[in-house]
Amino acid sequence: MCGIIGYTGQRPAGPILIEGLRRLEYRGYDSAGIALFDDRDGLFVQRAAGKVDQLVSRLEGTLPPASAGIGHTRWATHGGATDANAHPHLDPSGRVAVVHNGIIENFESLQRPYRQRGIRFMSETDTEVLAYLVADELARGLDLAEAVRAVIGMSEGAYSLVVITKDEPGRIVAARVGNAGGIVLGHNEDEKFIASDLAALLPHTRNVTFLEPGEVADITAEAVRYTDLEGMPLMKAIEVQSYDPVAAVKGRFKHFMLKEIHEQPVGTLDMIRGRYRLDPPSVDLDDMPFSAEQVRAFTRVVLIGMGTSMHSAMVGRHYIERFARIPAEVDNAAEFTYRRPVLDEHTLVISVSQSGETVDLLAAMEEARAAGCPQLTVCNVPGAQTTRVADATIYMRMGPEIAVASTKTMMASIIAIHAVALWLGRMRGTLDSSLEREQVEAAQHLPAAIGEALLLEPQIAQVARKYAQAEHFLFLGRGWAYPIAMEGALKLKEVSYIHAEGYPAGEMKHGPIALIDEHMPTVALALRDELHDKMRSNIEQLKARRGPVVAVVSQGDETLNGVADDVIELPEIEAALSPLVALVVMQLLAYYIALERGADIDQPRNLAKTVTVE
Ligand code: G6P
Repeated sequence: MCGIIGYTGQRPAGPILIEGLRRLEYRGYDSAGIALFDDRDGLFVQRAAGKVDQLVSRLEGTLPPASAGIGHTRWATHGGATDANAHPHLDPSGRVAVVHNGIIENFESLQRPYRQRGIRFMSETDTEVLAYLVADELARGLDLAEAVRAVIGMSEGAYSLVVITKDEPGRIVAARVGNAGGIVLGHNEDEKFIASDLAALLPHTRNVTFLEPGEVADITAEAVRYTDLEGMPLMKAIEVQSYDPVAAVKGRFKHFMLKEIHEQPVGTLDMIRGRYRLDPPSVDLDDMPFSAEQVRAFTRVVLIGMGTSMHSAMVGRHYIERFARIPAEVDNAAEFTYRRPVLDEHTLVISVSQSGETVDLLAAMEEARAAGCPQLTVCNVPGAQTTRVADATIYMRMGPEIAVASTKTMMASIIAIHAVALWLGRMRGTLDSSLEREQVEAAQHLPAAIGEALLLEPQIAQVARKYAQAEHFLFLGRGWAYPIAMEGALKLKEVSYIHAEGYPAGEMKHGPIALIDEHMPTVALALRDELHDKMRSNIEQLKARRGPVVAVVSQGDETLNGVADDVIELPEIEAALSPLVALVVMQLLAYYIALERGADIDQPRNLAKTVTVE
């Protein structure tokens, strides 16, 4: 949510900032802006509502040859998507420029003294007042880093902040307060970079430092000095990252979403490589920091996440209960935090997050940490904040996910929890060895099965064309296919703006069926498992009410031919992993319906990939 970029060095900063904004645009894309040190006028600032392209066309030919500056791409929290609300924000004298991610909760009371003096604010944002305050602190004689720390002391909320002043060309101060939005610094010998996440830095450097909450970085081209919020010096090491920036280009695909769907066979292979072993069949998670005694003492597993990651957790719950035989529950992280959950040191908390930055999830993890829960996190972004809070991390190994709607990382996170469930079952002695063998062998087939599911693309595109004009959709599933139905509905909503509901099929008769008529299609996941017959009955009930049905079935299942309007037959895979293969169909269906409707698939309206506000 909101992308921040900064550069100070020897090269022209403008193009570096613009390119960085493009890489960060998935975090927010309602407006963008940059501020550069300009020899003539002090600070050159340009902002534009809309995407980075709007900013670029407004900049046309005007970029000064500055070698330092800051930029921002916004996801609106306070005030609409307008030029005036776009960052950077300046103080009235134009001395200080600020970009910010997160929320300043007490911004109104911070603004009050200015308003009382008749000073006007140019925007409706919670950010602008920070520039005024920093300018006042500079006027009192503080230096830039001191002024930023002083203003942080007055501000409530969780946020990250980057500030420059025209008085000190080339100096940038960045701070992170609380868990909203990361800041990562990139280091080359005579240039430094600042960004909200790694993806924007990696084309320039692999040498990075993550700011932790409560840290301030005082940055020039030559050096970075770190302090805490009181100004006490901190030592921070440079980490060398191996993340692959090349993966962040679209290649032959029209959209990142389609590219990322197609990356799933290879990504799945990376997920299982070295973790699932055939001889003897087992899952190797040896780097887990939990002792056998501790694992045997777990009485409960709580899985938490938001959005797509919560759906992964919902599938994972089935695995934990079935393979490890530990009571497991799933919670939306934002709900979990605020209902004062009952937790103890025998409750294993498994959090799932592609970005590792989702603020609601981080709050939930803090709650679990305070209760002494052992924590395992599943994450895609190296070094992200969730990985710093949890005791152990399973990385998704999927490379950067750029499309706002998550696809490949859901696949990876489900596999991660499948592995954890098998590992827990073995450690606790609750996993039957034939079941272990069956699951480990099935996992070996998964990459190929996902590859085969992608061959269904032409059929799915055809089905998409048939139903693309529907205004409402129902998605039904049972058991581990229910979260996949939820995800099918979520993906469709996100990328095509069609209203869609995901329901457990048994619930259908308790309300949703009232919506069914010939205009409301249902996607029914009728996988071959112990619930298949019940699912078939549900489909009959839909057909009896003239509802069009797209049935997604297991290989060789002909029982719904002639009953459902369209039947999509999945490749062969063991039942517990069939939700993963069905997931590919959900993703492609949403993609092709959105394509038919001409939607902005990679950057749907109102959404952001990384949600760093509550
Ligand atoms: C946002 C994204 C979703 C994502 C959710 C959780 O809403 O648009 O695609 O599922 O956040 O994000 P996380 O990074 O925690 O998985």
